[in-house]
Amino acid sequence: MEIIRAENLRHVYKTSAGEKVALDGVNFSINEGEFIAIIGINGSGKSTLAKHFNALLMPSDGKIFVAGLDTSDKKNLWRVRENVGMVFQNPDNEIVAAVVEDDVAFGCENLGIEPDEIQRRVNFALDIVNMSAYKKFSPSKLSGGQKQRIAIAGVLAMQTKIIVFDEATAMLDPAGRREILDTVQRLHAQGLTIIYITHFMEETAVADKIFLMEDGKILKIGTPRQIFSDVKEIKRLGLDVPVAVELAERLRRRGLKFPKNILTDEEFINACLNV
Ligand SMILES: Nc1ncnc2c1ncn2[C@@H]1O[C@H](COP(=O)(O)OP(=O)(O)OP(=O)(O)O)[C@@H](O)[C@H]1O
Ligand SMILES: [Mg+2]
Repeated sequence: MEIIRAENLRHVYKTSAGEKVALDGVNFSINEGEFIAIIGINGSGKSTLAKHFNALLMPSDGKIFVAGLDTSDKKNLWRVRENVGMVFQNPDNEIVAAVVEDDVAFGCENLGIEPDEIQRRVNFALDIVNMSAYKKFSPSKLSGGQKQRIAIAGVLAMQTKIIVFDEATAMLDPAGRREILDTVQRLHAQGLTIIYITHFMEETAVADKIFLMEDGKILKIGTPRQIFSDVKEIKRLGLDVPVAVELAERLRRRGLKFPKNILTDEEFINACLNV
């Protein structure tokens, strides 16, 4: 079932320097429970699109519907935000309280939910992100990956159906990135709709679909395998491909009979053992 639809969505930023078209007629439909990764070079419009999912920005033209709600209709603002949680790049900007459980509860308190119900939701959310043991900790004592998981728990506690991650792993070390990606996959398995913006191409291999953006447009929508099958095009856009894709392609050029469509490290290793 469709949960988000964009129709000729345009966004134009007006600044003293003039106008910047950041989204230039974007169309797509996302089904409930899908995991969508969004890739594209700096300035291609990913964050601008992300901010349309929960009405942080309004369309300059065209429309976006979230859970059937037109985000440009002011009456829908809170209902849209009840459906969409956001996790941003810098976990330090997202922590608001001095104790983990209070931080996770913050969003719920703003929604005016009963204290008992909040407590129940906080425990549940901390459990999903594997942070129950840190309930009484000060967030300042946590690693970047742990802080990001607390931020995710805060969103989960609000029981939104859709979570948008805008480069949520960009400031983390490899272990932290792994923690977040594992958490995101777990949420996806539970039926949440995931919108995942990243510059780390390996992370997109687990997505159902990738939106490939260039200059305010969605150039291509496809499975990770489809998107990374054209290594030349991805490189032309200034992006990398996952390491396994890159190595397989180079070995193929050297004459090794490698199967097409290798995407993951595991597939690459299996192909090496079989040539
Ligand atoms: N508040 C703003 N005012 C004016 N122009 C903006 C504003 N925010 C973004 N832009 C411009 O709009 C375009 C799209 O920016 P956006 O932040 O959506 O790109 P992005 O794909 O998220 O890039 P990055 O990978 O660097 O995060 C860029 O040219 C950017 O300079
Ligand atoms: Mg961005």
